[in-house]
Amino acid sequence: VESVIVAIDGPSGTGKSSTSKAVASALGLSYLDTGAQYRAITWWMITNGIDVADPDAIASASGKPVIESGTDPSAPTITVDGLDASGPIRAQDVTSKVSAVSAVPEVRTRITELQRSIAKAAEKGIVVEGRDIGTTVLPDADLKIFLTASPEARAARRSGEIKGSDLTTTREALIKRDAADSSRKTSPLAKADDAVEVDTTDLTLPQVIECVVTLVEEKR
Ligand code: C5P
Repeated sequence: VESVIVAIDGPSGTGKSSTSKAVASALGLSYLDTGAQYRAITWWMITNGIDVADPDAIASASGKPVIESGTDPSAPTITVDGLDASGPIRAQDVTSKVSAVSAVPEVRTRITELQRSIAKAAEKGIVVEGRDIGTTVLPDADLKIFLTASPEARAARRSGEIKGSDLTTTREALIKRDAADSSRKTSPLAKADDAVEVDTTDLTLPQVIECVVTLVEEKR
């Protein structure tokens, strides 16, 4: 079976991670969560006392943390300087600061290089999920998917994931983060011209997975 590169982009709460992992597992491909890498660098900045409101400070420190991603879709891992960061990168504090850190061009250059080298090393192919994979990181991907869903559906899915969270607060935080990610100068969240758009508002997760698996199979 030929190696295949799949780019899955879209805003938060569209089912990107669940879909990407399931598609990679079903097809025997590697998996990369690029949001986890931006969260990891953000966590390092916070932990090391870097002012995340200061783009120059972020830019100067951007080369320091060593970030490594494990690409097994059934057990993806992320480490920062050798430490498991999979728990801390999901903290509310990281979620609220990640857009500011990921907007800094030096951060994007560094993380983009890392993503390209991981994709290149994946011999059987890979599913890479993020915001700018189809537009910037892997413009030659064999298949590009852009997942969307109504803000209500996205907020409901996210607040189902976060214990004790309230729907209105989740919805507002999510809209704010997507607006920041879509409006930044460097490599914003955007649909590539040649991406297939899948609106997941009225689809179940198994339906979305089946749709994407079918699209990948048509490509290889
Ligand atoms: O996907 P997730 O919600 O974990 O992504 C966290 C954040 O990382 C996004 O809100 C965005 O600021 C940043 N990100 C990015 N480019 C990507 C993936 C994520 O800027 N390719």
